[in-house]
This record gives sequence, C-alpha cells and structure tokens, in this order.
Amino acid sequence: ETIYLADYTAFGFVIDRVQLTFRLDPKATRVLSRIAFRPNPDAAEHDFFLHGEELKLIRARINGAEVTPQMVPGGLRCDVPEGPFLWEAEVEIAPEDNTALEGLYMSNGMYCTQCEAEGFRKITYYPDRPDVMAVFDVRIEGEMPVMLSNGNPGDTGNGFAEWHDPWPKPAYLFALVAGDLVNHPDRFTTASGSDVELNIWVRPGDEGKCAFGMQALKDSMRWDEEVYGREYDLDIFNIVAVDDFNMGAMENKGLNIFNSSCVLASPETSTDGNYERIEAIIAHEYFHNWTGNRITCRDWFQLCLKEGLTVYRDSQFTSDMRSAPVKRISDVIMLRARQFREDNGPLAHPVRPESFVEINNFYTATVYEKGAELIGMLKTLVGDEAYDKALELYFERHDGDAATIEDWLKVFEDTTGRDLSQFKRWYSQAGTPRLSVTEEFADGTYTLHFEQKTPPTPGQEAKDPRVIPIAVGLLNPNGDEVMPTTVLEMTEARQSFSFDGLSARPVPSILRGFSAPVILERESDNAERAFLLAHDTDPFNKWEAGRALARDGLLAMIREGAAPDQGYLDAVATMARDSALDPAFRALALGLPGQEELAQSLHDAGDTPDPQAIWEALETLRQTRAEHMQDITAKLYAEFQVTEPFEPSAAQAGARALANAALGMITRLDGGAQAQRQYDSADNMTQQLAAFSCLLEAGKGEEAVRAFYEQWQNDRLVIDKWFSMQVIHADPAEAADVAASLTQHQDFSMKNPNRFRATLGALAMSPAAFHHASGKGYALLADWLIRLDALNPQTTARMCSQFETWRRYDEGRQAKVKAALERILATPDLSRDTTEMVTRILEG
Ligand code: ARG
Ligand code: ZN
Repeated sequence: ETIYLADYTAFGFVIDRVQLTFRLDPKATRVLSRIAFRPNPDAAEHDFFLHGEELKLIRARINGAEVTPQMVPGGLRCDVPEGPFLWEAEVEIAPEDNTALEGLYMSNGMYCTQCEAEGFRKITYYPDRPDVMAVFDVRIEGEMPVMLSNGNPGDTGNGFAEWHDPWPKPAYLFALVAGDLVNHPDRFTTASGSDVELNIWVRPGDEGKCAFGMQALKDSMRWDEEVYGREYDLDIFNIVAVDDFNMGAMENKGLNIFNSSCVLASPETSTDGNYERIEAIIAHEYFHNWTGNRITCRDWFQLCLKEGLTVYRDSQFTSDMRSAPVKRISDVIMLRARQFREDNGPLAHPVRPESFVEINNFYTATVYEKGAELIGMLKTLVGDEAYDKALELYFERHDGDAATIEDWLKVFEDTTGRDLSQFKRWYSQAGTPRLSVTEEFADGTYTLHFEQKTPPTPGQEAKDPRVIPIAVGLLNPNGDEVMPTTVLEMTEARQSFSFDGLSARPVPSILRGFSAPVILERESDNAERAFLLAHDTDPFNKWEAGRALARDGLLAMIREGAAPDQGYLDAVATMARDSALDPAFRALALGLPGQEELAQSLHDAGDTPDPQAIWEALETLRQTRAEHMQDITAKLYAEFQVTEPFEPSAAQAGARALANAALGMITRLDGGAQAQRQYDSADNMTQQLAAFSCLLEAGKGEEAVRAFYEQWQNDRLVIDKWFSMQVIHADPAEAADVAASLTQHQDFSMKNPNRFRATLGALAMSPAAFHHASGKGYALLADWLIRLDALNPQTTARMCSQFETWRRYDEGRQAKVKAALERILATPDLSRDTTEMVTRILEG
C-alpha cells in the first residue's frame, strides 16, 4: 500500500499528556498508557485510529469505562465521546523475541528501543506520526540496575524509575533503556549557565572506551552554541551504546542510543577513521536536538528537513574541528560512490520523495547526503550572513513545530527577498544533473557556455532546469589566479558567462569546492589537469584535477588496454613530494577512483563496465605507480611515522594516512616484509589494520589472520573488522567463497547487524568480487538476505540496494542478478520492506 505526500491530513485529535508505565519482562512486558486526547480544532475529520502492530491488547478504557475497540489492519479504531477524554490501554509485548530491532527489544540482556520511523506502534497503541507531539511521563518497573527514558529524572526507588520530558515530542523520539550498565560521567555548563549532567552508558568492560565520545559531545554542545546559538534544554543528556542496532545512532530526546560501533573508541581498537566517524555521529545526534527534535517533521516525506540540515551541520562541525578541505573531499568521494549511484539507478528518488511503501527504505544517501548538499547550495546562493539570519528565523518561527520543506524555504525567502520556487526543484526532481561546458576566448574576453541536462529517473521523464551555483576561478597560464572564486548562478537550461579584461586565455577552475551535486562534463587534457593539480588555489579542485587525471588514465586502460598514463604518474609523484601540502591531503590525492566510480563513468559514456577489467586496471596502475614512486615511498614512510603517543587528532591521522599509503606501495615491491614489521610492532588499530590490509593484499595474510583473531576474539567490534578485511582483500574470484566460509564461523551471527554487514556487506564493497561473472556473489547475498528477512526486514531491505546497479552490466550478469532478485521476491511472507526494494530494483 503506497502512501502519498499529497494525501496529508492532520490527525483528528491533539494530545495533552502521555503517561506510560513499563513492567519489564523479556517475554511479557506490560505497557500501560494513559493518554489525554481532545479533538483537534484544525482537523477536518475526527477518526480515532491508533497505530499498533504486534501488540496483545489486554484492556482498554475511555474515561475509566472498559471499551472494546475495533481491531483493523495496522491498529485499532474506537468510538470516542465528544470533547476531551482519557484513553487507557494495557498491552503485552515480548522484547526478547523482537529480532527486527524496532520497538522495544533486547540486546545482550539489555532492554532498548528504536522508534524512528514507525517503531513506537510496536510498543503501544498510539497516533504514531511525527505531527502529533506530546509531553511524556514514563515510569519503568523492573529489576534492572539502570533504567532510563527521555527528559529529566523523577522519582526512583527499589524496582522503579520515573522520567519526565517537558518538551512536547513525537513518538518516534521516545526511548527506554534498562540494563546492567556503567556510566562515564561528565558535566557541561551551557552558555546561559545551566549545569547539565552528561553520561555515556555502556556494558561493564567498555567504560574505558567512552572518553573520546564524551569529549566529542562537549565539543558539539559548545559548537552549537557558538555557531548556531543553540543551547541544550534539559538537566541531563544520556548516550547509551547498544551492540545490536540497525543503523548508526538515534537522536531520542535526552537519550541518544548508539550502535556501539559509533561511540566506543580506544587507540588499540579504533582506527583514525573510526574516531572521525564517531565524532561526527555524536555531533549529528546532538545537533538533532534542535534540527529534528525542537523542530521536527510534519510527516515522513519531510525527512530531509531534519536529516539534510543535520548532516550539513555535522559536516560544518567536522570541518571546524579538523581540516575543511579534507572533509569536503571525503564527503564528495562518498557522495559520488553512494548518492550518484542511487540517483542514476532504479532506486532514484527526490530528496523529498512524494510516495513510499515503507519509510525505512528512504533513509538514503539521497535524503541525507544530497539533502545536505542542498543546504550547502542554498548557503552559497544567499551568502553566509543571510544564511545565519534565515536560520535564526527558522528557530524562532518554528520552535515546537512539525514543519515542512515549504516552511524551511519560506524563512530564506522572507529574510532574503529571493524567490526560491526554482530552487525547490532540487527537492522534487530526482537525478543528477549533467553540467557540460565549452569555452571561448577572443579579444581579452573569456566565455563559459554551460548546458544542464538531467536524465529521466523512475516516474520522472522530463526535468526542468535547476538553479545551479557554479563556483569558478580563473588562472593565468603562469599559474597565478586572475579571478578569485566567483559564484555564477545558472538558472537556464543553457547559459553563458563572460569575463573580460584578460591578457591571455585563462585556465578555468570550475565547480570549486564542488559547489553543486552535478556531474561536470568538460573536455580537458592531461596537461591542463596536471597544471591545476599544481596550481589551483581551491583545494577541492586541486584534488579533483588529480582525480580526473587518474580516472581518464584508468578509463583508457580499461577501454583500450592503454598503458598507465605517464602524465598522471609524474604529477602524482610531484604532488606526493610537495611538503607544502597537508599530509592528509596528499594521502587523499594518492587514493584512486574506486571500482564503483569507474563503473559509473563507463556506464555514463555508454559502455558496459566489466568489473574484472576495472579491477585489473586498478591493480596494474597501483603496481606501476609503486615502481614509479619507488625512490620516494620509503622516504615518505619514514618521514611520517608518528613517534608521539597516539592521539586521534587530525594532524596525527593525516601523517598515519600518508605513511600507510606509502606502505601500500612498498608492499607491492617488497611482498609484505615492511607490512609484517608494522603489524608486529603496531600499538594502535590504525597501524595494525593498515598492515593487516597490506598483508592480505599481498597474499601474505595467513599468519596475521590467525594472530588477529587470537588477539581480539573477545572484542566484538574488532572482530567485525576481522570478518570484513578478509572479504574485502580477497581475490575477486574467491571473495564470495571467503564470505561463505566466514558465515560458518562460530562468531558469525545474523542477528547482529554489524556482523552481518561485516561479512555479507563487505562482499559488495568490491564490485569485482560481488559482480564476479560466476554469479556466486549474487547467489550468496540472496541466500542470506532471504534468511535475514524473516528476522530483520529493515537491514535486509537496506542491503538489497547492493543489487541496484545491475542493469549496467552485461546480459550474463543481468540474468543472474534477475534470478537472484526473483528468488528473493518469491520468498513466502517476504517483508513489506524487502518487497518494496526488490520490486523497485527490478522495475526501475
Ligand atoms: N534519525 C537517525 C539519524 O539520522 C536515524 C534513524 C534511522 N532509523 C530507521 N529505522 N530508519 O541519526
Ligand atoms: Zn540524523
């Protein structure tokens, strides 16, 4: 059953107050609700429908009198009196049997919840929609030493704890945690002087892995005050780490719940990448307190209102805490690999979708990452000051509201006087615009001719031109900048911009900072790219020039069997040696376009990508580059060894990234000797894992695989790395067999989403392995998705997207994917989540 944005109507009642009592029991938890309803004066209809799924109704009362509601699919209906009334219900649920990890469930003996998007209806009967907001009082009864819910603590005593959340909130922000937990405590004083108690709650044994997350939390709280003027608004802020969790983390009011992989950190067990991600996710969830909680979404079509803005805010935070160019480049790498892939395949959908079957299927790179890009474009278009003003108005006007994208755009219109109706197309049109450009130079005037075109996407044949902010700079042939970054505002399908008074034909640097999420198509040559790699003042485009150089060379190798491009090899060696450049930047510039990015480029150009040929070209280039850079890699490796005690700082991480990029090249020539030395002496996970990867790549990992397991068998998060590394670094012809045998390992469990993804998700991270011509990668993933669907539809459905690129490939592969997808679809009782995904992938 499809739900449409156009069908939105307000709920017929408003809630004055919610009181919930939980009597915890693994098999038979009782949930008692007392909810004060009154008719909503703004609603056209007063149909008393409450959502409810997998609940056993024990009794229901209205104003104290027993009632017999009418049970209907997805909930219940009841006749209600005119005017205000008190609804009471008692239901029974079985958290221990809840393997879907949605609603109230158990993880390692601990009770926890995940309600976004529509999980609260698995806890009790309720209008489970974000536009119904209420103040909650919660009482938890049970034997657990720690029992938490949203808001501020109330009475606690033997066997119970009470919580009161003064801020009206939708049910998706409800949370409850109860278990044998220990805390890492701290305090924070807000700008206006309120004292806030902070805690990170973990299972005994993990207390030593909380300090970094706590610092990230305090940094986030300060940053949101300083940059957005947003203060925290409760006496306490709790974070809980949970091992079994479908996503990364959840912003429940005053009680954030995290996948333990996104909060626990220690030098021995976490890589620099883990640290950066943890810092960003802590910030993300904290920032939701204003962009998501105080201002929430009217309905789930508006998901990008909170997610796009909050991702944008967490990226600003990371840019401020670490290196802004490195953050921007990393974000664009991810955007291209995940969002462009989505936007150009059967699952393409607008940033604000207009229909869905299962909302959990729309927590996507498009809603999140492209949603964040739209905020960035808006800021570029109106300017920093106007952005600040608009945000101020947004918080002032909509605090306490369940808002829409229209509300969001209106604050920008009202503060700037701009008409944003064309900009709004970015929210409603799916697909990645192709921005092509040609140029002309005559009599000192240089002209750029742009044309934008967006290919059709499922359900959207024709596209209208969008507003595209194109940041451009011009360089002199001698390398000086003659025009600093200037934002061109493209609004037409074709549009030209001229720059005069130039003494020579300039070299353009277009789409600086990746100022719009588009695919730039421009004829260029290696000389020009090498020139920009050397001279561009914009760090993003400097990196992009090197990337394009690498990409074009690789495409020629794949298409024509060309030899590795000498221009690239020379330019990248010069760049790597350039001590004026940040080591983290150099490490990024030594990265090569991934298999996915290359497959996209080939497909875009009308070719059928051959995953094996792509993989081989990358291998050849890596080998040739290692030989070409032989004389500098040893120097780089030595120069960037960190001798100080480990710190997860950007500076140390950058040094390690560059040294480990060098180690990768060294390993190609020494067969793993240096990597083995690093493995043996590593005292932190960044160094250990980098060496482990090199050994696996060199085919010398057997001993390390054994030693790594031996050392880390009692640390779940590190063992996840052990599972995924073996699959990721396997030969493409063998990766599916490696993954299959790992599913037989005693530590494999499909009930734990992290472990499942570490094994089966890892397979799809190497397209050459997943798309192996035998089809065994497809078959293996399908087998396991079929099994997982019965337990955990949400994670199953998400992982189906691994098949989304299938139509790019040759007929043989297409037939095998189709068979795998049809096999999934034919599974009896397949979940709604997975059915929707597989159907869209097959039909789109
Ligand atoms: N709002 C959470 C975040 O952005 C994600 C929760 C997603 N949960 C889900 N079931 N789809 O951090
Ligand atoms: Zn979020």
